[in-house]
Amino acid sequence: MINLDTFDAPVRAVVVGSSGAIGQSFVKHLLSTPEIDSVQGFSRSKCEIKHEKFENYAIDLTDEETIIKAKESLKPYHLIIIATGMLHQDHVQPEKRFQDLDPKTLETCYTVNTIGPMLVAKHFLEKMNHDNKSVFAFLSAKVGSIEENRLGGWYGYRSSKAALNMHMKSLSIEIQRFHPQSIIVSLHPGTVKSKLSDPFSHNLNPDQLFEPDFAAEKLLRVINNLETQHNGGFISHDGTTIPF
Ligand SMILES: NC(=O)c1ccc[n+]([C@@H]2O[C@H](COP(=O)([O-])OP(=O)(O)OC[C@H]3O[C@@H](n4cnc5c(N)ncnc54)[C@H](OP(=O)(O)O)[C@@H]3O)[C@@H](O)[C@H]2O)c1
Repeated sequence: MINLDTFDAPVRAVVVGSSGAIGQSFVKHLLSTPEIDSVQGFSRSKCEIKHEKFENYAIDLTDEETIIKAKESLKPYHLIIIATGMLHQDHVQPEKRFQDLDPKTLETCYTVNTIGPMLVAKHFLEKMNHDNKSVFAFLSAKVGSIEENRLGGWYGYRSSKAALNMHMKSLSIEIQRFHPQSIIVSLHPGTVKSKLSDPFSHNLNPDQLFEPDFAAEKLLRVINNLETQHNGGFISHDGTTIPF
């Protein structure tokens, strides 16, 4: 069983990207934790989960107006997970070499992976509980680590996640000044079976590819173990810190 026993119960949680593979798994696991009061989901596509403690609302991270509108439905919360992200879509593919660099692809990566999540923070942080432990978690990716980049390529995705991590760090410093119990982090879920990873995961051994439920469970354990010293960190599914 997953617990949120380091938070003051009853816990209200928010998942942005509740239609995605990992996002849906977060919602399901959160609803099964004994401390949960309610979960609010926000997604562009429909989220199929039905539960008396769950409500889902529309959001599109490429349109700030929808984020502002979504905020009207947002209740005060203790935990928020931004589980949105994009590696490929329609005519956008990750670059294999520098000759593939395309302004539109780069713009889409930054819009969805960096700017969108930060606009959610801009509008949603106002409703975050700051009286006791609270967590704002962005799903980032280890390939966004500059220090760990050994293969190159994927310019847009890598750099949009690196930029997200920098935004997260600045936010964590700013929030800590006023709300020392609040924790802002970037999390790496591992390589996970999803629409996002599907075209790139066929050559992986099964033990290198997590089921979304497994990844979400691991990350919720990480979140429950977070302390204020982790504020501003880039943390993997096994609880280890990833260098920026
Ligand atoms: N899967 C992996 O191996 C892996 C590895 C490292 C990091 N991550 C990160 O984990 C997160 C979740 O990925 P996933 O694997 O669960 O992928 P996924 O199943 O493709 O989910 C992506 C989610 O992002 C949402 N999204 C995309 N663009 C959006 C927009 N403009 N507005 C609102 N929502 C939007 C999608 O909504 P729609 O349903 O409407 O498309 C979907 O809910 C991402 O940040 C990803 O970078 C994943």
